[in-house]
Amino acid sequence: MAQRKTKSIYTCSNCGYQSPKWMGKCPDCQQWNTLVEETVPSSKGKTHRIGESHAKPLRLKEIASQDEPRKQCGISELDRVLGGGIVAGSFTLIGGDPGIGKSTLLLQAIDQLSRNGKTLYVTGEESCLQVKLRAERLGVNPEHLFLLAETALETIFDKVRDVQPDFLIIDSIQTMFTTQIESAPGSVSQVRECAGQLMQQAKNSNLPTFIVGHVTKDGSIAGPRVLEHMVDTVLYFEGDPGHPYRILRAVKNRFGSTNEIGVFQMSDCGLREVKNPSEIFLAERPEDAPGSVVIPSVEGSRPILVELQALVSSAPYGTARRTAMGIDHNRVSLLVAVLEKKVGMSLLSHDIFVNVAGGVKIDEPAADLAILAALASSHLNKSVPRRTVVFGEIGLAGEIRAVSQPELRIKEAARLGFERCLLPTSNSKNLETPSGITLCPVATAQDALDQLFDH
Ligand code: TYD
Ligand code: MG
Repeated sequence: MAQRKTKSIYTCSNCGYQSPKWMGKCPDCQQWNTLVEETVPSSKGKTHRIGESHAKPLRLKEIASQDEPRKQCGISELDRVLGGGIVAGSFTLIGGDPGIGKSTLLLQAIDQLSRNGKTLYVTGEESCLQVKLRAERLGVNPEHLFLLAETALETIFDKVRDVQPDFLIIDSIQTMFTTQIESAPGSVSQVRECAGQLMQQAKNSNLPTFIVGHVTKDGSIAGPRVLEHMVDTVLYFEGDPGHPYRILRAVKNRFGSTNEIGVFQMSDCGLREVKNPSEIFLAERPEDAPGSVVIPSVEGSRPILVELQALVSSAPYGTARRTAMGIDHNRVSLLVAVLEKKVGMSLLSHDIFVNVAGGVKIDEPAADLAILAALASSHLNKSVPRRTVVFGEIGLAGEIRAVSQPELRIKEAARLGFERCLLPTSNSKNLETPSGITLCPVATAQDALDQLFDH
């Protein structure tokens, strides 16, 4: 009997890069030791059959348009991140570190969803009893929730046909496997194939599907990054384990805006929505402390005030340390260089620490001016004046450049009782200023520091 030939291929478990030979470092994502061997059946002898499908091209105007009917899950932070609710037949990936709260969030979302229709929750990680105990603790008691502890994809498809759910949740994709592929559950090819088949089911039967994917730093389980291009929506649930705040971020959304965020707080009875994140992030701010600055940052359509802290202290040994948390350290290095060269502040022999309070991450250039102000404030040991916020991008020549959505930022700052706002000159034209806040346009880094510290 002729044996079916198989060949080996090495796949990066982090990014999905494939290579015919093993390598220590993935040339694509630069991670070490992530290439794992997988066997794939030889494609020799397989012929692609053409002409089987009955799909035919349609004129755009022939396609019946329908308003995407969206279903709300009752958690407004989640609905907003999804773009206004769940679209029929949509396929959503919720990624995040293990233990961050993905299962908890979905269980809470099911509560409302299952009042309108049937939900099938497939768990590959916990037993049905464990899920039930958790649901009870969360006060989730929906009538139409069906639990299934199963990892074989083929069985899951059978059960979906039996139950005919209105929503399907797969927790997690790394535990699922299909018998069509030989490699172990969690390997890149299994994860990709399972997600592909689930996606097809979602589209064919118009079944909204959520899949949970763990991201691990060492890449030992296939990261959901290999799935990002397949799915409709990618939500990342992030947060610092030491802080109760969790941020749900849309990084891709075919049915809504990306970079929309939802803020939650983990409590002993599950996740609670945080409607006023600015107030919480500023609650513990030490006023008049040198090095502390408030930034009105914008996430999607939402302004959030966060506190940025810097500590500049003289380095006792030769090499100075530069540490940045919640912010890109390259940005900090750039701004240190601007302070050295354009303002004449010598930071070369100083340790520099920058941190965003509350475990928040900021990755917009509008934070530049705040980083610069925090560094200068700590170095000069002078606090930034009370009730002042700053925003603006800084160029290499020390110039302050315009950023997006200045009005939103100023409005949120005024709402929280801030009285002064330093902003780029080019942003300050034709702006409606809310009452109670004074705008101070600044054009250069030096200009900004003069305004803040009479430097
Ligand atoms: P979980 O949803 O199991 O995380 P994931 O599915 O992302 O792996 O969340 C587990 C964490 O959440 C765990 O560390 C405990 C915490 N938690 C609470 O603090 N309160 C609660 O009510 C629940 C259900 C979980
Ligand atoms: Mg879980």
